Amino acid sequence: MLQNKVSEIKEKSTDEIKTSQSERELYAIQVKYLGRKGKLTAILKGLKDLPADKRREIGPIANEARNAIKHLIAERKKELSEQIDWEKERIDVTLPGKRQEIGHLHPITLVQRDIEQIFTSMGFEIADGPEIETEWYNFDALNVPPDHPARDMQDTFWLKSEKEKLVLRTHTSPVQIRHMQKNKPPIRIIVPGRVFRNEATDANHEHTFYQFEGLMVDDDISAANFRSVMKIFFENFFEQKVELRLRPSYFPFTEPSFEIDMNCLVCGEKGCSACKQSGWLEIAGAGMVNQKIFAAAGYLKNRYQGFAFGGSIDRLTMMKYKINDIRLFHSGDLRFIKQF
Ligand code: PHE
Repeated sequence: MLQNKVSEIKEKSTDEIKTSQSERELYAIQVKYLGRKGKLTAILKGLKDLPADKRREIGPIANEARNAIKHLIAERKKELSEQIDWEKERIDVTLPGKRQEIGHLHPITLVQRDIEQIFTSMGFEIADGPEIETEWYNFDALNVPPDHPARDMQDTFWLKSEKEKLVLRTHTSPVQIRHMQKNKPPIRIIVPGRVFRNEATDANHEHTFYQFEGLMVDDDISAANFRSVMKIFFENFFEQKVELRLRPSYFPFTEPSFEIDMNCLVCGEKGCSACKQSGWLEIAGAGMVNQKIFAAAGYLKNRYQGFAFGGSIDRLTMMKYKINDIRLFHSGDLRFIKQF
């Protein structure tokens, strides 16, 4: 019986192979008979269960059939390949091609890379943190009290969460804590990243924008070090001399705190709409790290000192390229984006 089955398989497969018209068809035939679940494979696999004399009888026949089918397939494959119409298949590499549209970096990315490059050249590392933050990292650890207006629904996107309260981070400052928890001074980091605020948008405000945070901590880092790092950064960034002004300000996580102003490069300090006629532009918040922040990160109080600052990458981009509306960045308007 088995014998008949084998010769039947052989006949049928031979027929199919001879009339096949493509490699694809051939492959299907190979799978059908010789594949893992193929018809002949099934017989070959069953051999071991046959009595010895039967096995001796059928074994060689089945094996011979398998080799024959393999051989036929190979031959037919060769035949088919010789039938290819090479003239039709020819590719004329001298024909004009189809132009591929390639993209380019977004202006904010360009500026982020500039910032990274300048700070790394001063020995800063680039650090990163999550955009979804816990209330603790975004506020408590940074000494922002529970009743601080920044925590209001008006300013912060709160997420529905079961256990810990979660927010879309409102600034990059939580990365200060995350980094200090894992590293000991000396610390020099720069943290570029996306932040979110629940604000009404206008030409100067977006709900989603980018900040760059800086942190430098060691035994005796001073405000003078801060001023000089800032000056080097801004002069490199704008590729010209700039004047900086530190104004007293307040942030819960720095003590003392400053607002950094820069002379307006748009009008050369004469007064224009960019600088609200004052000749100066506010470019970052900063200060000497509050000792409470060191404590929250697990350092001994009064053991280290350092400075921190945070500025808007969007704002720097606007100044560098003289863009007058922050909403253009994510507008998807190709007329805008193609200029970079
Ligand atoms: N996190 C502050 C803000 O978003 C900026 C800042 C960073 C101020 C570091 C001081 C020190 O407004």
